[in-house]
Amino acid sequence: MQVIKVKNYEELSKVAAEIIANLVKEKPDCTLGLATGSSPIGLYQNLIKKYEAGEISFKNVKTYNLDEYCQLPKSHPESYYSFMHRNLFYHIDIKEENVHIPNSEGNDLQKLCDEYNDLLHKATIDLQLLGIGANGHIGFNEPGTSFEQETFVVKLTEKTRQDNKRFFNSIDEVPTYAMTMGIKNIMQAKKVLLVASGANKQEAIKKLLSGEVTESCPATILNRHKDAIIIVDEAALGLVK
Ligand code: GLP
Repeated sequence: MQVIKVKNYEELSKVAAEIIANLVKEKPDCTLGLATGSSPIGLYQNLIKKYEAGEISFKNVKTYNLDEYCQLPKSHPESYYSFMHRNLFYHIDIKEENVHIPNSEGNDLQKLCDEYNDLLHKATIDLQLLGIGANGHIGFNEPGTSFEQETFVVKLTEKTRQDNKRFFNSIDEVPTYAMTMGIKNIMQAKKVLLVASGANKQEAIKKLLSGEVTESCPATILNRHKDAIIIVDEAALGLVK
């Protein structure tokens, strides 16, 4: 696991965008695994700038997103479908048919999970981007999830719902369930890039960097990935007073 320490969110967003842009330049038809949350927004903005400057094109890039809320229509502003389009896809030249986001609209969630999992089996993700939950979750793989888990419907912990409340009007509006790639899917990516910023990530980062691998902190599995990069800022490292 390679750890890149940066000063703050701005630098994190620059360094992470550089890594992704370099991959897109080297392999214009690469497959990216993408993430939501506040952590990747800055790096998406930098990728948009690079696209606008003519440095990179997403014309032949394919993407697979990590997760999606259940019980929330795609059209809801806080669905991850809306998030990804608002923060990235509408601003670049990616083809809609190359964008894959778990579809949780429908009654048979198990069937929808299996369909997404089949797509993942057929794909090879060159780089999987990850944020990290304050409790160490990746995607929506909450503490205690088996490392062998593939795409599934998860009941979100109260901690995660509280953390994500800021995007909704009240806690009652925060979905209780989500569909997420499993840890096994995530580990199959050729390269994994995790970005962590802010003091609320300190505990999870401390566990991740301790080298211990435990299902009680899902992100620690990255210690077993052969090509994982962690970009972490001073606040997440606990260096900011
Ligand atoms: C959500 C997402 C995760 C993300 C996490 C952290 O739970 N499912 O993929 O990593 O939030 O979010 P943030 O970057 O906003 O702290």
